[in-house]
Amino acid sequence: MKKTLIIGAFVLKSILGIAQSQPHEVYRPVYHYTPPKNWVNDPNGLVYLDGEYHLFYQYNPFGNKWGHMSWGHAVSHDLKNWQTLPLALPEFDNPDGTKTMIFSGCAVVDSLNTSGFFEKGFKKGMVAIFTSHIEGKAQHQSLAYSADKGRTWKFYDKNPVLDLGMKDFRDPNVIWYPDKKAWIMTVVKPLEHTAQFYESKDLKKWALLSEFGKQGDMTKIWECPSLTKVPVEGSKESKWVLMISSGHRQKNYLAMQYFVGDFDGKTFTPQKQKDILYVDEGKDFYAAIPFYNLPKSHKPMMIGWVNDWEYAGDIPTGDVWRGAFSVAREMSLKKTSEGFRLIQQPVKQLKNNQKEVFSIQNKTITDSYILPFKGEVFDLTVELQVVQAKILALNVLESGSEATTLRYDVATQELSLDRTRSGQVDFHPRFSSIERIKVPLKDGKLKLRILVDKSILEVFVQDGEQVLTEWVFPTKHEGGIRFTTQGGMAQIKHLVIGGF
Ligand code: FRU
Repeated sequence: MKKTLIIGAFVLKSILGIAQSQPHEVYRPVYHYTPPKNWVNDPNGLVYLDGEYHLFYQYNPFGNKWGHMSWGHAVSHDLKNWQTLPLALPEFDNPDGTKTMIFSGCAVVDSLNTSGFFEKGFKKGMVAIFTSHIEGKAQHQSLAYSADKGRTWKFYDKNPVLDLGMKDFRDPNVIWYPDKKAWIMTVVKPLEHTAQFYESKDLKKWALLSEFGKQGDMTKIWECPSLTKVPVEGSKESKWVLMISSGHRQKNYLAMQYFVGDFDGKTFTPQKQKDILYVDEGKDFYAAIPFYNLPKSHKPMMIGWVNDWEYAGDIPTGDVWRGAFSVAREMSLKKTSEGFRLIQQPVKQLKNNQKEVFSIQNKTITDSYILPFKGEVFDLTVELQVVQAKILALNVLESGSEATTLRYDVATQELSLDRTRSGQVDFHPRFSSIERIKVPLKDGKLKLRILVDKSILEVFVQDGEQVLTEWVFPTKHEGGIRFTTQGGMAQIKHLVIGGF
């Protein structure tokens, strides 16, 4: 009898969606990684080894606000499903009563055992290079190593390995530079808007090569740099991309900027560029770094933190978890008349086993068209032909008057992402916002790929030429999708929705 009652109560609870109404579950994304609980910020140590993609990340093991920074750890075989593993690198106490926090950094596979940390001939040693942060006192670069694919770690007993005696000096990112048979580290002096390049044969002794900086976006401090060789589409050529997390074109927000150029093993020389180039035009993409040690068949790829420090501590995801990561994105370069530009696409693996849940061809839209598909977790690709329309808008996560709107103005060629009516927006004065970017049509067409995942939106525009990533917090969950036009008709050439 008692058992029946309990089962009955459980069924009732599920039907009424009580479990669903807890904010942390309502907003928890499905194919974007979130920790089961607590705070996360930057991705760290993105590295591939033996079929596993590793995502280490800035993590507070004790709560859902920033603090006690340590490295959390998750692994994935398919870049869609992530398994959370035990804490990798914990904050620790120093003999003088201070604490060392483990700030951002990277991980490499030291297959030649250059560091000497591993047994002779062992090819699978991982070395983490991170900023050791002593609150209010110092930031220097330190090492830890793992001989069991990142499951257990030892801190190097002669840390730090690079110390300039500065309070702000952080976020090392290391690559192997085959021509010199040496490691190259990129690291920033955040307050000076400079990145420095260092060289080492063994990851332990580092020599300064050169400095780059005092240009581009300097509205905010510089953080989380990385230098990556990226292929140019349709050619055998590659260029070097230097990414820096810094300011946003909209004042006082954060964003990532990038420079494209040449690197000769010593100095980075950027192409001439008129404009500041941003990696993502949305408010919530920061601290992305590339993966290390990807198989040759892969393009370079990166993952970013979905958030903006402005309000990251206030997002209403509930008491359990706070913060999330973008999907993995492939990087390539496109040669344009104004120089090289970064192209980003969700990794191909995201399409694997995706079920096509809806599709439509050559559908004319006059006024308003509500899709017969509703959802809060999907991957939508659409090609729109403007025809006579002056304004073309697409609402996602629509429930009554609530929606997140992508709107294209044909006359100004402006695409905007409007989250002012997306749901909860007043938890922070600067959250409610509209992003505007210039997007030329291609043969009269606008192509969008929109990843919607409960509270995260990643919008890839014109085959990844621009991207907008943002949080939204709907209060109702009908998940409607609606197209509207003004000034004449438009046509959906092709629309496909993939479900997870
Ligand atoms: C960037 C950052 C890094 C630092 C880390 C600390 O978001 O400020 O510069 O290493 O977060 O959590």
